[in-house]
Amino acid sequence: MREFFNNYVQSIETYIMFRIKETVAKLTPELISKGRAPIMLSMGAPTANPPKKVTDALKSALDEKGAHLYSTPKGEKYLRDAIAKRMQTRFNVILNPDTEIFSLIGSKEGIANFIRLLINPTTREDDKEIIFIPDPGYASYGEMIKVSGGKAYSLPLTPQNNFMPDLEEVYAKFIQEGNNPQKVKALIINYPNNPLGATATKEYLESVVAFCKKHHILLMSDAAYTDMYFKPELKPMSILEIEGAKDIAVEFFSFSKPYAMTGWRLGWICGNEEAVKFFGKLKSTIDSGIFKALQKASAEIINSPEGEEYIKEANIKFKRN
Ligand SMILES: Cc1ncc(COP(=O)(O)O)c(C=O)c1O
Repeated sequence: MREFFNNYVQSIETYIMFRIKETVAKLTPELISKGRAPIMLSMGAPTANPPKKVTDALKSALDEKGAHLYSTPKGEKYLRDAIAKRMQTRFNVILNPDTEIFSLIGSKEGIANFIRLLINPTTREDDKEIIFIPDPGYASYGEMIKVSGGKAYSLPLTPQNNFMPDLEEVYAKFIQEGNNPQKVKALIINYPNNPLGATATKEYLESVVAFCKKHHILLMSDAAYTDMYFKPELKPMSILEIEGAKDIAVEFFSFSKPYAMTGWRLGWICGNEEAVKFFGKLKSTIDSGIFKALQKASAEIINSPEGEEYIKEANIKFKRN
């Protein structure tokens, strides 16, 4: 069977968090019988129920006419309008909901499929196209890049650089090591960072945009955690708040973390119009959008006072934890 599968998929592992989860599940009954219940240290996901407003909205959306028919991969207009409004009120970022926003089946799906759009796959190691990724970082990035036939290059996030590596320095080292700068396709940033929780300053984000423009590198900002913060005066930013970012960047958002809706699988990509358009072409061939009742309920929560209150309360609990 193995020989049917391409070299790229043969090179990846099952996502580490699922491997840990499976192992823990296997060991748990035996450990419990010995009075030694294990502590789960794999996925750091919110475990509370989502806001009641969103589950109530979902229940009533189930009975709406047409709710069970195909949606569109782009996302229903009401969802994209709600997202545009949220981006404006939360970040002061103005987006065209018809051309600069596209729905995702979770941000993980969006990032993986977006990477597929960028890499020209090859099995020749020295010919592989490269994406810069944060290290430490979300474990999926490296595997997503590998299965797309590319290669990841680590950006070291350390206490010494305050988790904001000097990109020109890294780039110089990358070239010194004999890598070909022409092969660099994209750079992924993730602030607040998984697993560190580190956030970036406005000045740093400005330097990232300037770096990407100077070297003609597409910027992907994974903003899954922008609504998780402990100091109200230090809210994490969207990369799109930086002047000129839209020329070179796309950003990935998620409903998973702010509203504890990890199982709903909902997010969005936004930013550069041409990039969103290319993404839309791929998506239109591989999926047919998200269940409309989920979209309807999600559109109702993101600009609501209940949604805001939920985020505030959840952050107080996370801080205490
Ligand atoms: C940094 C980061 N990005 C993206 C995701 C994916 O989130 P989702 O697909 O639920 O939107 C996660 C999930 O843990 C994450 O930690």
